Amino acid sequence: MGLGVFGSVLVLALLFKHLASQQPNTDDFFVSEFLNKMGLTSSQAYNFSASVCSWQGVSCDDNREHVVELVFSGMELSGTIPDNTIGKLGRLQSLDLSRNKITGLPSDFWSLNSLKGLNLSSNQISGSLTNNIDNFGLLEMFDLSRNNFSEEIPEAVGSLQSLRVLKLDHNKFAHNIPTGILKCQSLVSIDLSSNQLNGTLPEGFGAAFPKLTVLNLSGNNMYGRISDISGLKSIVNLNISGNSFQGSIMDVFQGSLEVLDLSRNQFQGIIPQVLYKFSSYNWSRLVYLDLSENKLSGDFFQNLSESLSIKHVNLAHNRFTRQNFPQIEMLLRLEYLNLSKTSLVGEIPDEISQLSNLRALDLSMNHLSGKIPLMRNEHLHVLDLSNNNLTGAVPPSVLEKLPWMEKYNFSYNNLTLCASEIKPEVLQTAFFGSLNSCPIAANPRLFKQRDTGQKGMKLALALTFSMIFVLTGLLFLAVGCRRKTKMWEFKQASYKEEQNISGPFSFQTDSTTWVADVKQATAVPVVIFEKPLLNITFADLLAATSNFDRGTLLAEGKFGPVYRGFLPGGIHVAVKVLVVGSTLTDEKAARELEFLGRIKHPNLVPLTGYCVAGDQRIAIYDYMENGNLQNLLYDLPLGVQSTDDWSTDTWEEADNNGIQNAGSEGLLTSWRFRHKIALGTARALAFLHHGCSPPIIHRAVKASSVYLDYDLEPRLSDFGLAKIFGSGLDDEIARGSPGYVPPEFTQPEFDTPTPKSDVYCFGVVLFELVTGKKPVGDDYPDDKEATLVSWVRGLVRKSQASRAIDPKIRDTGPDEQMEEALKIGYLCTADLPFKRPSMQQIVGLLKDIEPTAS
Ligand SMILES: *[C@@H]1O[C@H](CO)[C@@H](O)[C@H](O)[C@H]1NC(C)=O
Ligand SMILES: *[C@@H]1O[C@H](CO)[C@@H](O)[C@H](O)[C@H]1NC(C)=O
Ligand SMILES: *[C@@H]1O[C@H](CO)[C@@H](O)[C@H](O)[C@H]1NC(C)=O
Ligand SMILES: *[C@@H]1O[C@H](CO)[C@@H](O)[C@H](O)[C@H]1NC(C)=O
Ligand SMILES: *[C@@H]1O[C@H](CO)[C@@H](O)[C@H](O)[C@H]1NC(C)=O
Ligand SMILES: *[C@@H]1O[C@H](CO)[C@@H](O)[C@H](O)[C@H]1NC(C)=O
Ligand SMILES: *[C@@H]1O[C@H](CO)[C@@H](O)[C@H](O)[C@H]1NC(C)=O
Ligand SMILES: *[C@@H]1O[C@H](CO)[C@@H](O)[C@H](O)[C@H]1NC(C)=O
Ligand SMILES: *[C@@H]1O[C@H](CO)[C@@H](O)[C@H](O)[C@H]1NC(C)=O
Ligand SMILES: *[C@@H]1O[C@H](CO)[C@@H](O)[C@H](O)[C@H]1NC(C)=O
Ligand SMILES: *[C@@H]1O[C@H](CO)[C@@H](O)[C@H](O)[C@H]1NC(C)=O
Ligand SMILES: *[C@@H]1O[C@H](CO)[C@@H](O)[C@H](O)[C@H]1NC(C)=O
Repeated sequence: MGLGVFGSVLVLALLFKHLASQQPNTDDFFVSEFLNKMGLTSSQAYNFSASVCSWQGVSCDDNREHVVELVFSGMELSGTIPDNTIGKLGRLQSLDLSRNKITGLPSDFWSLNSLKGLNLSSNQISGSLTNNIDNFGLLEMFDLSRNNFSEEIPEAVGSLQSLRVLKLDHNKFAHNIPTGILKCQSLVSIDLSSNQLNGTLPEGFGAAFPKLTVLNLSGNNMYGRISDISGLKSIVNLNISGNSFQGSIMDVFQGSLEVLDLSRNQFQGIIPQVLYKFSSYNWSRLVYLDLSENKLSGDFFQNLSESLSIKHVNLAHNRFTRQNFPQIEMLLRLEYLNLSKTSLVGEIPDEISQLSNLRALDLSMNHLSGKIPLMRNEHLHVLDLSNNNLTGAVPPSVLEKLPWMEKYNFSYNNLTLCASEIKPEVLQTAFFGSLNSCPIAANPRLFKQRDTGQKGMKLALALTFSMIFVLTGLLFLAVGCRRKTKMWEFKQASYKEEQNISGPFSFQTDSTTWVADVKQATAVPVVIFEKPLLNITFADLLAATSNFDRGTLLAEGKFGPVYRGFLPGGIHVAVKVLVVGSTLTDEKAARELEFLGRIKHPNLVPLTGYCVAGDQRIAIYDYMENGNLQNLLYDLPLGVQSTDDWSTDTWEEADNNGIQNAGSEGLLTSWRFRHKIALGTARALAFLHHGCSPPIIHRAVKASSVYLDYDLEPRLSDFGLAKIFGSGLDDEIARGSPGYVPPEFTQPEFDTPTPKSDVYCFGVVLFELVTGKKPVGDDYPDDKEATLVSWVRGLVRKSQASRAIDPKIRDTGPDEQMEEALKIGYLCTADLPFKRPSMQQIVGLLKDIEPTAS
């Protein structure tokens, strides 16, 4: 009896085990439910009575109790994943459901907190990705590519701190890349390509990913500079093609880069010529380079010839200066060369024949002349020489290749095809275009028939042999084959019509006119960024400046008057009343000033606060105790300058009270200190140009904008006011500040100041620091007509730079350093903006000649 009971228990137990797969709340159950409800087709027979662990694509833990890995890829599973299926596999570490037709995820999906690998790529999942992903703290591989996800990438992506591979490409993700991603410091590969992301890269992007080797942001709408990318120490493959990134590509060449695709952006300026010793990128690593469809100017880089591994070069459609064909014959691995529309002149060199691996050559839309070289490249499949000025006969060695060509275009040249044996009607079918208009691009389809069709074969042979044996051919296409307009002549930058500007801003020295506009002074707040609780109002500003009395006036310039005052709380400030020159609304002006208030750098004069009072925008700065460079350098009398020349604005007290080292003896008479001012100013500008997004162009760099604070640190002032002033300011600057006007400002095609115009002005300040001479109107030995710039540049050119050194500092440091500084100033003041270095490079150059502490 006892045995009978025991026996039935045993049977029950066996039965139970047998039916385990059907029991709710087991992994067997969850997985079989999933497969059934997702429309598993009969062709993929699964034995549901066997343990789930034995199923194809399933792996379990050692006890065979829990599923840890599921690979159900390409099984035509369709629909939304139901709740209580996969989402309940609590031990699941790896899930691959790629290449199905899944349209949605269950709500319990986000509880799979053991997941290390998740691949849902190539499905049809819609909707947004929520912050629920923050449960996936162990996730290392996250692939949602090729779905229909939309809205933003959630900030919570920052919780995925183990993440190494992130693939979200080919979705509809929008908005900015979240700053949260900066926390995922283990990332090795990021692919966000082909989405709708916009905005700039999160600040600090480069430094956040020390291990990143692959970055693909291509095919989005992102913009801004990419100087941040220079921090990516391990980057190998970088693809940001098809965005709106702009600025210089100077900083990109670094690290272990092998594949670089910057095509279809708005990059400008020169390709780095590796001018500077601190740029030591090893070109021999580069395999793939695409810079096409940007606005790059200047010359090609000579260093390309060092890229001995390179296979793919595309520089097409840029704005380079006219230049000869680059030296490339040593690039023996080259397979693809595209120099279409790159302003090439001269002849195609015969050496191109030596590139035995070349498969595609595009030299269209240039000004190449002379004859087509023999082109013995045996693997050539694509040849586009259209739209040049090539003459003579198409050589037989080129025509021989026709049968295996995929694309062959000689159109719009002055070439002859010596094919007396070819009937005109045959020629007409073998080439695109009619003979009396503008052929000739070969028709590859016709030649492809070579194996089957007799006609094509004959034609190919005819072409070949006629070329070899017929000496004088027919001139098929000559004068008539030229387009009426020459394609390669770039449109001149649209001429900006000279505007009528009515003199300098008419500022009312009599401040009462505008003060009267403010009806209730105590109701107009003054924003002090660091001290929001102070509750300062316009009435306090009035009190601090004795109702903007002339007695507190520090300076009067084109930007408006500057007053000095102490605000409640003992804040010592310089109060700048901005003359209204723009149509900015009050709110926009306030937002702009708030923005400027957030810009902090040890070499910038901080904006302390602001006030929008009536028509006036008032900027409040920290007071600079030690005056400005102009006064210190030229020992100008301190105090109010009643002049309209902004370049002589000063903020100093008339009585010299606060000046620590007034008279500047022993201070500005040392090279070390002058170098410190130069470096600090350069850092400030480098920060504005490269560290701010969008970059800030100062537009009024000059000795009188460089101040010395209480600790004698140089600080640049007046940055970013241009927006608040409106566009009239540009013209104002172009006219004002004699001696600081970059040459491009006087060009008819001048459009708007660029970072390079700041660089020019910085160069002038650097000259002032080394020579102790004013930009104009000083005594320049041997050259009375000169300006400081023309005088020093002349001396540098004649290698006599040392003659320009200020006698006051001559013996306070090595001559070579001061000469080097003049050479840096020389680079900065180059006539052509693109020849000037960037502020970042200047900082590097100045650091190289830093006098050692003695
Ligand atoms: C299904 O699995 C059970 C248990 O492992 C086994 O006995 C049975 O033969 C299998 N059926 C098929 C059709 O493979
Ligand atoms: C995800 O699956 C797809 C298709 O099966 C595969 O090509 C891809 O490499 C996988 N993703 C990762 C990151 O392994
Ligand atoms: C993708 O998602 C959008 C909504 O974001 C929807 O309108 C569209 O139909 C979806 N497309 C597919 C193929 O599922
Ligand atoms: C970025 O994209 C979002 C959504 O498409 C849009 O609302 C926003 O205006 C865009 N922002 C910018 C600066 O283009
Ligand atoms: C993105 O770019 C990288 C690097 O060039 C490349 O390896 C990857 O295949 C690209 N991704 C897509 C989806 O094209
Ligand atoms: C960069 O990505 C685009 C697609 O967005 C692709 O067409 C291109 O081939 C990629 N470049 C490289 C070098 O992988
Ligand atoms: C660059 O790398 C190659 C091969 O790795 C090496 O032979 C060459 O010396 C390197 N060049 C420089 C300038 O470091
Ligand atoms: C790059 O080119 C410049 C100018 O031709 C040359 O001075 C330099 O040595 C080259 N190589 C490197 C790695 O900078
Ligand atoms: C060369 O580059 C241009 C610009 O990107 C492109 O339009 C053209 O198709 C390319 N030529 C070849 C042969 O790939
Ligand atoms: C084309 O070349 C001929 C000489 O071969 C030259 O006289 C002519 O000016 C060139 N035309 C253009 C537009 O470059
Ligand atoms: C040949 O080049 C010309 C000019 O670049 C172009 O208009 C024409 O479409 C090309 N023909 C073929 C068949 O590619
Ligand atoms: C075309 O080339 C021939 C010589 O091959 C020359 O006589 C003729 O002037 C050229 N025509 C043009 C428009 O350059």
